[in-house]
Amino acid sequence: MTRARFLGTGFAVPDRVVTNDDLSRLMDTSDEWIRTRTGIQERRWVREGETGAGLAHAATLRALEAAGLMPGDLDAIVYATSTPDHFAPGNGVYLQRLLGVGTIPSIDIRNQCSGFVYALSVAAASFHNKQFRRVLVVGSEIQSTGLDVSTRGRNTAVIFADGAGAAVLGPSEDDARGILGFDLHGDGVHAEKLWVDVPGSMYHPRVSHEQIEAGRHFLEMDGKEVFRHAVVRMPESVRAVLAATGHTIADLKLLVAHQANLRIAEMIQKALGLRDDQIYNNIMWYGNTTAATIPIALDECVRTGRIKAGDLVALTAFGSGFLWGSAVVRW
Ligand SMILES: CC(C)(COP(=O)(O)OP(=O)(O)OC[C@H]1O[C@@H](n2cnc3c(N)ncnc32)[C@H](O)[C@@H]1OP(=O)(O)O)[C@@H](O)C(=O)NCCC(=O)NCCS
Repeated sequence: MTRARFLGTGFAVPDRVVTNDDLSRLMDTSDEWIRTRTGIQERRWVREGETGAGLAHAATLRALEAAGLMPGDLDAIVYATSTPDHFAPGNGVYLQRLLGVGTIPSIDIRNQCSGFVYALSVAAASFHNKQFRRVLVVGSEIQSTGLDVSTRGRNTAVIFADGAGAAVLGPSEDDARGILGFDLHGDGVHAEKLWVDVPGSMYHPRVSHEQIEAGRHFLEMDGKEVFRHAVVRMPESVRAVLAATGHTIADLKLLVAHQANLRIAEMIQKALGLRDDQIYNNIMWYGNTTAATIPIALDECVRTGRIKAGDLVALTAFGSGFLWGSAVVRW
């Protein structure tokens, strides 16, 4: 069985910085509230005309450069987003078109905040039977265009943001290195606790003026419930994937958790008994970019030397669905 390993990573965020004070001018909130409840100091939101596929393209070029590869070297794209540029087709083909590569397949993954971990599992499985040799895995999101920036939407508008992260995978030549395993779960009982109701094919038309007036096209979240489940599920899943791959917490060089909220990250750290040097947080600067948080954080860690060849790294995510999961990688 061939294992996949990371050959290169990259990320891209919009130039436009939105501070907490900027948000206080749009809604009844404050820098103090946002910092203490979420840890976020600023985030990036797109300007008109910027697209999720465009951010994914920029992130991909950096990941390819880091891997020493060209777009034409890619055999397949696995693209995770909960915020595609269009209802159909998915963003994979738009990225393929921007990359100017041949007729390579693309697989679109939804799975929201857990999108990158799920995309990685699909990509990694394709190496087991040697289906592909170079697979691009992307998490890219534009949340800002779907946020209610009035006081009504303040519990989500201050958290979610835009960005993209990419990783190029190739076969591992070394038995010990590569993606070692996954732990994946879902529980649709909680589907409406973090969701976007419309547009939806169950409605005819898929979105009505009344629905828009009621704000049903905005991201909606039961923050307390998401928090309650996230702080249990992520530690549980990290323990499970470590045990399944024959490791313990002490073996971990670094845990890269989905950047949902700094308080959630701190509770995960405490639940797992991790030292400060075993975790990485960057939500202060980017907010919650859904499927992009993990690949953005991974790229920062690789470029700053927090992750080096041979390190044992765990990834974990939780989000809308609810869907959650973890992966263990010998880098
Ligand atoms: C959203 C979140 C920060 C809210 O924090 P909280 O402590 O649970 O706060 P509550 O939702 O109970 O709201 C407390 C009060 O703050 C208010 N509030 C909510 N958002 C606010 C904002 N941006 N600014 C100021 N006040 C705000 C609420 O209206 C509420 O006021 P009330 O008591 O008068 O009704 C928190 O629930 C959270 O982080 N949840 C998880 C979110 C997450 O990670 N989502 C992504 C998962 S992938």
